[in-house]
Amino acid sequence: MKIVSTAEALREQLGEWRRAGDHIALVPTMGNLHDGHLSLVRIAREHAERVIISVFVNPTQFGEDEDFEKYPRTLERDKLKLKKVSVDLLFVPEVATMYPFGIDKATTVTVPALNQELCGSFRPGHFDGVATVVSRLFGLVQPDVAVFGQKDYQQLLVIRRLAEDLNLAVKIIAGPTLRDEDGLAMSSRNQYLTDEERKIAPELYRVLEKTAEALHTGNRDYAALEKSAVEQLTSSGFKPEYLSIRRAENLDAPDRDEDHLVILVAAHLGEARLIDNLLVEI
Ligand code: PAF
Repeated sequence: MKIVSTAEALREQLGEWRRAGDHIALVPTMGNLHDGHLSLVRIAREHAERVIISVFVNPTQFGEDEDFEKYPRTLERDKLKLKKVSVDLLFVPEVATMYPFGIDKATTVTVPALNQELCGSFRPGHFDGVATVVSRLFGLVQPDVAVFGQKDYQQLLVIRRLAEDLNLAVKIIAGPTLRDEDGLAMSSRNQYLTDEERKIAPELYRVLEKTAEALHTGNRDYAALEKSAVEQLTSSGFKPEYLSIRRAENLDAPDRDEDHLVILVAAHLGEARLIDNLLVEI
């Protein structure tokens, strides 16, 4: 695995691979890798001769009072983890490589169709930061495919939308959410949980499953289902931001006869802000 941190070195290696006719798959991450990330790398490998993983804790997607400073930076451990999978290149840019004109003067990308609601309303500017950094990674790498986890469902739709809207020649692939045995979705932020909170955390997925079950049995009173789910989470010790049933395709409010739904949830548990979602095909 080659490790590269500058745009020049990246371009040089990409040129060599492209001249050889290789396709390139990109897995963007913020590091602190877990098995969920490794599964995205394995998916990438099925789609291209060359796999690049990027590790960059992107400052522009964190709000002022969020965890940018304390976000776990574990590059040496990440490198060891990557030995378990097949990666050709690890791209670890500095802020100046990702934002050559500085963050204040950076050209930004915004996806107004999806950036204000759900997580966007609790984390103003977050999806603009994501769209901006992902566009920059796409510009630097020009991948044929890029793989993102379905756990960040709204992020996935934002990225799909920006790629389609800007006519980018990159295919966006979703990797299924990996879960611990008790159902908790794998996430870098799970490590903020205390032992006690870790025992409560899988309740988030159980509430999603219960809500999905109700939808499957014909209950389409979305507002009542959402209210009851939020109450269950609150009584388990979470501070829920939202639990919302939406159209899976575009996060619009669903009609009563919608077949493709997604239930999305964000809730605080102690120091951790956890998100999860469940697709429901009726
Ligand atoms: O999902 C993440 O880890 C980040 O939001 C991403 C897509 C790497 C952009 O910084």
